[in-house]
Amino acid sequence: MRLGHFDDQAREYVITRPDTPLPWVNYLGSEAYFGIISNTAGGYSFYRDARLRRLTRHRYNNAPLDNGGRYLYVRDDAGGEYWSPTWQPTRRSLENYSCRHGLNYTTIQSTYKGVTVRTRYFVPLGETLEVWQAEITNGRTQAASLSLFSAIEFCLWDALDDATNYQRNYSTGQVEIVEGVIYHKTEYRERRDHFAYFACSEPLAGYDTQREAFLGPYRGWSEPAAVERGESGNSLAHGWQPVGSHHVRLTLAPGETRTVIFVLGYHENPKDDKFDPPGSQTVNKRTVKPLIARHLQPATVEAAFQGLREYWRGLLDNLQVQTPDPHTDRMVNVWNAYQCMITFNMSRSASYFESGIGRGMGFRDSNQDLLGFVHMIPDRARERILDLAATHLETGGAYHQYQPLTKRGNNDIGGNFNDDPLWLILGVSAYIKETGDWSILDERVPYDNQPGSETPLYEHLQRCVRYTLDRLGPHGLPLIGRADWNDCLNLNCFSDTPGQSFQTTTNKDGKVAESVFIAGLFVLAAKELADVADRRGPAGEARRYRDAASRMEATTLQQGWDGDWFRRAYDDSGQPVGSKECEEGKIFIEPQGICIMAGIGVGDGRALKSLDSVKEHLATPHGIVLQQPAYSRYYLQLGEISSYPPGYKENAGIFCHTNPWIMIAEAIAGRGDAAYDYYMRINPSAREAVSELHRCEPYVYAQMIAGRDAATHGEAKNSWLTGTAAWNYVAITQWILGIRPTLDGLQIAPVLPGAWPGFSATRRFRGVTCHITVERTGPGNSVELTVDGVPQTGDVVSVPGDGRTDVKVRARVS
Ligand code: GLC
Ligand code: GLC
Repeated sequence: MRLGHFDDQAREYVITRPDTPLPWVNYLGSEAYFGIISNTAGGYSFYRDARLRRLTRHRYNNAPLDNGGRYLYVRDDAGGEYWSPTWQPTRRSLENYSCRHGLNYTTIQSTYKGVTVRTRYFVPLGETLEVWQAEITNGRTQAASLSLFSAIEFCLWDALDDATNYQRNYSTGQVEIVEGVIYHKTEYRERRDHFAYFACSEPLAGYDTQREAFLGPYRGWSEPAAVERGESGNSLAHGWQPVGSHHVRLTLAPGETRTVIFVLGYHENPKDDKFDPPGSQTVNKRTVKPLIARHLQPATVEAAFQGLREYWRGLLDNLQVQTPDPHTDRMVNVWNAYQCMITFNMSRSASYFESGIGRGMGFRDSNQDLLGFVHMIPDRARERILDLAATHLETGGAYHQYQPLTKRGNNDIGGNFNDDPLWLILGVSAYIKETGDWSILDERVPYDNQPGSETPLYEHLQRCVRYTLDRLGPHGLPLIGRADWNDCLNLNCFSDTPGQSFQTTTNKDGKVAESVFIAGLFVLAAKELADVADRRGPAGEARRYRDAASRMEATTLQQGWDGDWFRRAYDDSGQPVGSKECEEGKIFIEPQGICIMAGIGVGDGRALKSLDSVKEHLATPHGIVLQQPAYSRYYLQLGEISSYPPGYKENAGIFCHTNPWIMIAEAIAGRGDAAYDYYMRINPSAREAVSELHRCEPYVYAQMIAGRDAATHGEAKNSWLTGTAAWNYVAITQWILGIRPTLDGLQIAPVLPGAWPGFSATRRFRGVTCHITVERTGPGNSVELTVDGVPQTGDVVSVPGDGRTDVKVRARVS
């Protein structure tokens, strides 16, 4: 069953009923000011950091889940009836509800008793504010006297403190109301030089800033007393819970439409010019007033919206494809690319599943996310790499996470996740392949952000390789440390105390437990770095990396091969994990994917054997589960993975991030049908038809789909912020469609499903637009290439040196 549909032309998903199984959300903002918005206008906003600069409040795990947001109320002043045009929070039965989630904007429209309200929410480029553009139309045959109320609840900035430290916070809230603008200035009197503001384009009939004055005692957002009586309380918040609510009265003739604009924003003042007049406690508003005035003008707002549309067109134009399959087209051309941009901005910090107060930017996560956005925003990818590398440690290890506002590594969680550094090599090499910008290797980057410790980025990469080689275990495989890619395989943890963090508890010395996954990742990364070193490193260095890679490859085949698949690890007592010898958890997906991607076993038939085992033991109609059999009980020596009930998350859930590794492995093995089949099983658009089962948004990937051991096999969770976005984008665009950046140019090496006659694509690559046509003329995967009619040797399009900015690329696949 579908709960909406794709509008491919407009690049929007249209939700046609408000009571979706879960909040179906979208993101506002793509630079510094961000918001999450649900299909009922729920959600919250923040500046840069969802934890440290939260503008509006969100109550986690609320009932209903989606409660609190950017709300409007319309009141019929004739009879006193009122409703929310975004359905929440009053939940009246609306006529004609629709929510259109577009690229960084959302428009919610509904009609109730002849009054239509259409509200568009977005963040103008270059600004730290959001606009709500509400169009109210009187479709009745009589004039309508209406009241319009806005409502937001301010967060007292630090979202964790805001949600816990009431003995202080109930006394700190402060606002000012000047010329109809509500200024939220909690803690501005002391160390903050930023404040929030909430403005409205119309003259006000009243306002409220104290929550209980607006709602009334023992009332929630569904029945605010001020709305019910049709009159604001003109309340001034002092302590308690500051809110922002404007009250506007409108009289609309039959057929008349009026636009009312609300602006919610974040503003910083110079530290020494915070107050006006100086010495007072009044916020200096000179710097912000012109901004507010400008964004309350319909013409400015319209132009800003067009600018946003243009910006997204530009980003997506970097790769557009036309294939025989509409699900592939809409994911590649719009939604998957969009989701990659959202993971660029959010990492795993703020969603309806990630509170925004826990994790900042993950080191391994951000490096992988980069694979999905580097072709759209190469400059920002460069900056991201340098930020990440600055949290690298002199040992070659890395902080597991960093806080986006400070860009410092998180001490709470620290490092010792032994896979982390290797991902930096993949991130940097992807950047160079896309841009050809070798100068990044010479950038001087500190360790742990310590001034004076800078070395060229290239040396950071050298230390990443060293880090693994310095930490080998009894089988010659890399020691796992706290965990590898699978955060929940905690082989040195041995925790038997409730509440201990699986991520940071370590009861063992870490000298025994080894990871076959890191071995595979090492081989992949060392080969990548060797390719870079060929062109850049000191003499002989590339060969040393290749030698290290082949030694690790041999060790993996010797110690990591189980007979029909790659093993997963060795635990602290030297017992295999992910082996036939195990009682549960006999086969894992991750080493099958990463080892084959690294080329291990590809020449000798073991790759095919491993993939056949994946098919036999792990594949389900809803995707490939992480391991089998699921752990039926808690294993002290395995950690968090066995803490999840069978079928969920890392314990045999369909952890979607890993599925594209198998798609890529199948492509490497030359099996286009299998690769594409796996791609379609988790493709969100293809799963739209089972929305009642899937439950999450049909336009983005979720981290997890419940595995076959779960009661709700096929149900998705943790949508939006997941490495699934980048890896699926890589799998479909670079391996199945085969349009793959390399150090030497753009490779065209499709491994297509057998039934496809071909496809076409436009790819911008290093300043050249490649118009690509792929035509199948035989059943295999060999490619014959012409560029502007000239036959090429090999399958790589090199960037023309003669100033051509457009080339016609034709590939025959046979
Ligand atoms: C989450 C984490 C990621 C980890 C994965 C598997 O997605 O963000 O870092 O690799 O889980 O545990
Ligand atoms: C939890 C999650 C896992 C995530 C980790 C991040 O263990 O299950 O998916 O990677 O937290 O810290």
